[in-house]
Amino acid sequence: MKILLLGSGAREHAIVKSLLRTGTSAADILVAPGNAGIATDVNCVRIDPNDPTEVTEFALANAIELVIIGPEAPLVAGVSDALRAAGVAVFGPSQKAAQLEGSKSFAKEIMAAADVPTGMAKECDTMTEVESAMDAFGAPYVIKADGLAAGKGVIVTTDRVAALQHAAKFIDGGILVEEFLSGPEVSLFFLSDGTNVLPLAPAQDFKRAYDNDEGPNTGGMGAYSPLPWLPEGFVEEVERTVALPTVKELAKLGAPFVGLLYCGLILTNRGLRVIEFNARFGDPETQVVLRRLVTPLAALLYAAATGSLDTSATPKFSDEAAITVVLASEGYPDSAAPSRPILNLEAAESVPEIEICHAATSIAVIDGKEQLVSTGGRVLSVVAVGSDFHDARAHAYHAMEKLALEGSHYRRDIARQVAL
Ligand code: AMP
Ligand code: GLY
Repeated sequence: MKILLLGSGAREHAIVKSLLRTGTSAADILVAPGNAGIATDVNCVRIDPNDPTEVTEFALANAIELVIIGPEAPLVAGVSDALRAAGVAVFGPSQKAAQLEGSKSFAKEIMAAADVPTGMAKECDTMTEVESAMDAFGAPYVIKADGLAAGKGVIVTTDRVAALQHAAKFIDGGILVEEFLSGPEVSLFFLSDGTNVLPLAPAQDFKRAYDNDEGPNTGGMGAYSPLPWLPEGFVEEVERTVALPTVKELAKLGAPFVGLLYCGLILTNRGLRVIEFNARFGDPETQVVLRRLVTPLAALLYAAATGSLDTSATPKFSDEAAITVVLASEGYPDSAAPSRPILNLEAAESVPEIEICHAATSIAVIDGKEQLVSTGGRVLSVVAVGSDFHDARAHAYHAMEKLALEGSHYRRDIARQVAL
């Protein structure tokens, strides 16, 4: 099957590696635009992944049988709608269904209509409304920008001034003030064909920039899978109370959700609650979830894209422990990252059970020599498996210690609590 994958992050590199590991040949995969690491595994093409016309023309001209959309931007730009209209199978929801991620107030409306458990929230258009909602819910304050903000639109804080400052920054696009929910977080992905859903393996993401969940929220600094502490029947419960009702509600609105439904959940002592939906694979959770997948990924995504998940194989996962640690540039997530050389990649890649998924990397010519350099905040993900988390952590951190990128930082506590 000839596949075009859109995106350029570590998530897309992980998708490529999973396709290759589960039976797709490298010659059948094209990535637009990809990055320096992806280009060492498969061919990358220079088309704009956010341009519906350009992507559709390319897909038709190259006899692409399945387009996989990695990030949210092409979804919001309507790329999947254009492809579907041209008869190309696409794994990625329509512009309308992707509002589940693109608008937190739309997601809340869907959840209310479908009776999906979530935190109480108030939509606010003025700072006066924000203040009175904050008073009603009390501290800690949870303030969310309504629209897309690359993982940086949410603040959870007891500092009233900081909460108000954050709200003021995003108030023009609308703000959601939410009740504070406490408990462990779980990311659970479902493949959806618009009617049927199939769960992938649960993972946990580490959103804060620094160890012990300190510092600002980021796009994600690490992840692990499986989650040995999850209650029995958890996945089935999320399927029944969250994923299926949400997919049904969207179908009812004439916006069937075809793609990956990312359920961001929190396990409170009053039961599970949805804290967010995304309309795409999570980054960095994908790196660990797909590392454990043994069922052919291309067939699963094609079944979702063509409305046939009901007759598809069930996704199966290895029993290995998988962890990923993100290497971030100096200043991430607060300031723009300087571009700097990344050294010792080969040494890191020679550590057993290691895979490196590139994100913000590119090749630059320095002193007449080609050199891998960083080009953004989250630079790469080190992914490792092991017979248990102790083992997987040892591999991942061994590789991470070999890498050298001036000023960079990474968390040292990914999966620490399950490795004791
Ligand atoms: P979101 O982008 O909505 O997933 O929020 C980013 C992060 O903020 C989540 O992963 C949580 O760690 C935290 N968060 C979001 N909503 C809440 C809430 N209602 N209560 C506590 N923490 C939250
Ligand atoms: N890791 C969180 C996200 O992909 O949104």
